[in-house]
Amino acid sequence: MSAPSTDLAAGAPAVQGRRQILVTSALPYANGQIHIGHLVEYIQTDIWVRALRMHGHEVYYVGADDTHGTPVMLRAEKEGLTPQQLIARVWQEHKRDFDSFGVSFDNYYSTDSDENRVLSESVYLALKEAGFIETRDIEQAYDPVKNMFLPDRFIKGECPKCGAKDQYGDSCEVCGSTYAPTDLKNPYSVVSGATPIRKTSTHYFFRLSDSRCEEFLRGWVAGLAQPEATNKMREWLGDAGESKLADWDISRDAPYFGFEIPGAPGKYFYVWLDAPVGYYASFKNLCEQRGLDFDAWVKPGTKTEQYHFIGKDILYFHTLFWPAMLEFSGHRTPTNVFAHGFLTVDGAKMSKSRGTFITAESYVTTGLNPEWLRYYFAAKLNSTMEDLDLNLEDFQARVNSDLVGKYINIASRAAGFLIKRFDGRVQDSAMHHPLLQQLRAAIPQIAANYEAREYNRALRQTMELADAVNGYVDTAKPWEQAKDPANAVALHETCSVSLEAFRLLSLALKPVLPQLAQGVEEFLSIAPLTWADANTALSSQQPINAYKHLMTRVDPKQVEALLAANRDSLQATDAAPAAAADANKKSKAAKEAKKAEPETPETISIDDFAKIDLRVALIVDCNIVEGSDKLLQLTLDVGEEKTRNVFSGIRSAYKPEDLKGKLTVMVANLAPRKMKFGMSEGMVLAASAKDEKSEPGLYILEPHSGAKPGMRVR
Ligand code: MSP
Ligand code: ZN
Repeated sequence: MSAPSTDLAAGAPAVQGRRQILVTSALPYANGQIHIGHLVEYIQTDIWVRALRMHGHEVYYVGADDTHGTPVMLRAEKEGLTPQQLIARVWQEHKRDFDSFGVSFDNYYSTDSDENRVLSESVYLALKEAGFIETRDIEQAYDPVKNMFLPDRFIKGECPKCGAKDQYGDSCEVCGSTYAPTDLKNPYSVVSGATPIRKTSTHYFFRLSDSRCEEFLRGWVAGLAQPEATNKMREWLGDAGESKLADWDISRDAPYFGFEIPGAPGKYFYVWLDAPVGYYASFKNLCEQRGLDFDAWVKPGTKTEQYHFIGKDILYFHTLFWPAMLEFSGHRTPTNVFAHGFLTVDGAKMSKSRGTFITAESYVTTGLNPEWLRYYFAAKLNSTMEDLDLNLEDFQARVNSDLVGKYINIASRAAGFLIKRFDGRVQDSAMHHPLLQQLRAAIPQIAANYEAREYNRALRQTMELADAVNGYVDTAKPWEQAKDPANAVALHETCSVSLEAFRLLSLALKPVLPQLAQGVEEFLSIAPLTWADANTALSSQQPINAYKHLMTRVDPKQVEALLAANRDSLQATDAAPAAAADANKKSKAAKEAKKAEPETPETISIDDFAKIDLRVALIVDCNIVEGSDKLLQLTLDVGEEKTRNVFSGIRSAYKPEDLKGKLTVMVANLAPRKMKFGMSEGMVLAASAKDEKSEPGLYILEPHSGAKPGMRVR
């Protein structure tokens, strides 16, 4: 596509020692959408991977969906799908989101794969062989209706302290007290509503308490990159000889979606056993595609490097279980684990009521540029586990002032003159300008900051350089120089220095803004930039192309639209464990929204009314929605070939069995709405008082007897 740019330094350093590096991000669960909290991690990892690839190292970045476990199993059932159908759909959604945000996985796979089954079994059998597996009988909560053991989060009941209803087994959202699941009064299974019983079953354990584990982990912890992680590990390990490590329960009883344990019918690997093995399964699959030697990467003593990027919430799994599993099953151990903090939005936990539980998909469909978010996260990220905040005003200000104002404008100001007056060719002698030497000298430091995961430092440095370039342009005043033909040489120099500076700034930003960098490479007609290009320069031999705008400003309206797209409407109320404070804010926000609504017009025309397709519906099935206090899931027959799935916020007023077999009225032509729990394909009508607070009560409509499913209501 283009001639190489000229080499400034005689013999630019070749890649010294080409490293072989395997990198992973945590595997997202296959029962939910990718949101901006997740994106912190995938963007952080991707920037690192790209920065290392730009050195010419052999880098492989793999990921996968984490598909196994009870939540996926139940979610699939609720949606009327097999787990395999559900995870196939979610995989497509996740892959789409990662592609949109430029997350450059070399392979994106699934833990529900043959490779993973084989690897998980072999890890387990090796551990067993080495004496690390033990069975023990334990007693657990059991749902006698659904015939399954209940993980804690599937049990609710009344708070033992304040009596609040529908609280989870670990803490009360109303009074904030914490307790054990067995303390709950009138406990019920979230799956069936039945009262859980206690039942004994045999479980398989990984003997983490074995002194070999302790000894190994004490040594391994010393190599961790983050002091906070080392401290946490020391806390978990306790003092020498104390052995605080408890054995790890790695089995679950059927019904379970996962891999059956070899030689143990009806027992499955707990999802967290096969999930990290999924890193290797994805890589193994990649090796098969590319003809790489998988074993050479994962056997002990290998020179290859292996890094895991994770959130701080899953440190335990990655710094205790995973290295111990690898060590004692005959594998190499991770070179390092890099944990990051949690994302807040405008200083608070992401919230559906405020619209700050922002999905990756909504960000893209609202028309925001994914590279804005990449830039903003990078500007906030460092190598620690500190939480980071997405402040939406700061987001707009930084993108607009730094990226567009300081950086993009350098190109837009210089390109016009160069094309119009100088045939698009730079002045070669200008390539030695001291300002450019300053920029070139800074590039290796910037590259090093990326590698050290100090992205905020790398970007601060880059923006300081951009300031210096803008200062240079402001002093030279090309717009003045252009007025007098006698200044042509000076003008040529100004534009040439500006554009070469722009090239170098683009190089510094490339790991963060890969798509923009590609646009710059086309515009400047140069080969893809790598770190070695700190020592090259634009050349008069290769004219630049006409400038096309490379990045627009953030419009505040876009941010408003983004929040609106993610804000819960009353119908879509989705009561994922929201804190009590959050719930208060939610009703406050709803009230404010009501106040802002325009007055309803006095009358509508008959044509307006005719637009609403009201129909008699038979409630074929009705279920509670696991994870929501407000919703019931209705299966409705409206006289069509297929039944409709509708989520309705009527749980406070009805039990599923009250409604099954009853007729009601639904709005059949409401646009389907995607909710956390699935698609809602319409709305049932219910009456309530004007002021629901002082006069609670919710009554769904029911036609007189004789009405048939599918009849129009008009
Ligand atoms: N499935 C497990 C990981 C298995 S890895 C072998 C899991 N999945 S997750 O979907 O809950 O989270 C995936 C990653 O996203 C985790 O590293 C988690 O820390 C990160 N984040 C999820 N929400 C986040 C924020 N709000 N902020 C930053 N990171 C967040 O855990
Ligand atoms: Zn309470």
